Amino acid sequence: MIKFDFVTYNKIEDYKKNGVKLKGVKEFFEKHKDMMGWYDIDNLCNDDKIFKIKEKALYIKENCDLFLVVGIGGSYMGSQALIDALNPYYKNETQKPQVMFVGNSLSNDYINYVLNLMDEKEVIINVISKSGNTLEILTTYDILLSKMKEKYKEDELKQRVIITTEVSINNTLYKEAKEKEFDVIDTFKNIGGRFSVFTESGLLPVCVSGINIENIINGAKEAMQDINNQARYALIRDIMIDNGKQIEAYTSYEPKLYYFLEWLKQLYAESLGKNNKGILPISIINTRDLHSMGQYIQEGPKIIFETLFVIKNNRNNIYIERYRKNLSEINDIAYKAVSKAHYDDNIFSNLFELDELNESNMGYLMQFFMVSVAMSGLLEDNEEVFTQNGVEKYKSILNSMLKE
Ligand code: PA5
Repeated sequence: MIKFDFVTYNKIEDYKKNGVKLKGVKEFFEKHKDMMGWYDIDNLCNDDKIFKIKEKALYIKENCDLFLVVGIGGSYMGSQALIDALNPYYKNETQKPQVMFVGNSLSNDYINYVLNLMDEKEVIINVISKSGNTLEILTTYDILLSKMKEKYKEDELKQRVIITTEVSINNTLYKEAKEKEFDVIDTFKNIGGRFSVFTESGLLPVCVSGINIENIINGAKEAMQDINNQARYALIRDIMIDNGKQIEAYTSYEPKLYYFLEWLKQLYAESLGKNNKGILPISIINTRDLHSMGQYIQEGPKIIFETLFVIKNNRNNIYIERYRKNLSEINDIAYKAVSKAHYDDNIFSNLFELDELNESNMGYLMQFFMVSVAMSGLLEDNEEVFTQNGVEKYKSILNSMLKE
C-alpha cells in the first residue's frame, strides 16, 4: 500500500487553473496509442504471457550460473531497479544464477572483468535491443559471443543465446539471430524501451533473479485504478514549472531504491527533456547526500522541488541505546527533520510513503509514473513524449565518426 501526500503546495486556484488542461487526456492518449501498448497492462501481462516468462526463466535458472543481460537505457534500467529493490542486499552476487547487466558502458576494464567471470561459470546471455543497432549493445554482443564460441559448441551455443529485439527485416540484430538460430523474443512495436519494464524483455531477468513477477503485475494493475493521483502528480509538476522550478530531486532514504531513482530519471529526462523545455530530474540517496547535495538544495537557488520515497516498515529493527530509538524510527525522524527544514525555506515536497518495500508496491509505482509522465506530455505540450530524437542524434554522429 502506498500513501501520497502532495500537500506542501496548497494554492487550490493553481490546481483548478492548470487542471483544465487535463480534460484533453483521453484524446492525447488516443492520439499516441501506437506507442502506448504498455497502458493496457491486463493484455500486456495476461496469464499466458506470465506463464511463458516463468517457463523461460526456469530454463535459464536450471542451465546457468551466470545470466548476462546486455542492454542500455530502457532496455535494462527497469529490470535492474526491480532486482535491486526487491532482493536482499548483495544476494545477487552469491545466488545461482547471478544476474548481471552488461552493455551499459564501453569500459574495457569492466568487460574484461566479465570475461574472466565467464571462464568459471556456465553462462546464458540475453541481448536486448529494440532497434538492433545500438553501438554499446552490438559491441558487447560481439565480445561476449566470441567468448561463448570458445566455451560452447555450435549446438549448445544456440541454447545459450537469447536475442530480444524487434522482429523486422530491416533489423540487423534480428537477421543475425535468425541465421545463427538463436532464440528470439520480439519486442513490441507499440512500446518504447523506457516503457518496457512489464514486457517479457523487462520481466525475464527479474523472474530469473527469483522475484515474484505476478505480485509486481498485480501492483501495476492496481495503479490503473488510481488515475486521479497520477493526474495530481502530473499537475503539481506543471504548477512547479509555473513557479519557476527547474529541477526535481527524486529522493529516497533507502539505498535499495538507487536504481529505481535512476529509472525514474531516465523516464522523465528522455520523455520530457525536449524543445528547450522540461524539468531536470536528479536523484538523491539520503542520508548520504544530506552531506553533499543537501547544502545546495537547502540554500542554493530556489529552483528545486523534491519527490520523496519513504518506506514505513522495516523488519529486524535495531535498537540504538544512545538515542533510545530503533533505527527505522531514526531514519524516519531524519526525513521529517529534512522535510521541515525544506518546508521552512519554501522547498516543496511530494511524498510517496510505502508500507513496505515489496513487489506490488514497486509494480504500482512504476506503472504510476509511466501513466503520469504521459499526462505530463499533455500538460507540457510535448507531442514527442515517446520518442528520443536527442539520443538518436548522438547515435548517428557516433556511427559516422566510427566510419572515418
Ligand atoms: O527508452 C528508450 O527508448 C531508450 O533508452 C532505449 O531503450 C535505448 O536507447 C536503447 O535502445 P535499443 O533498445 O534500441 O538498443
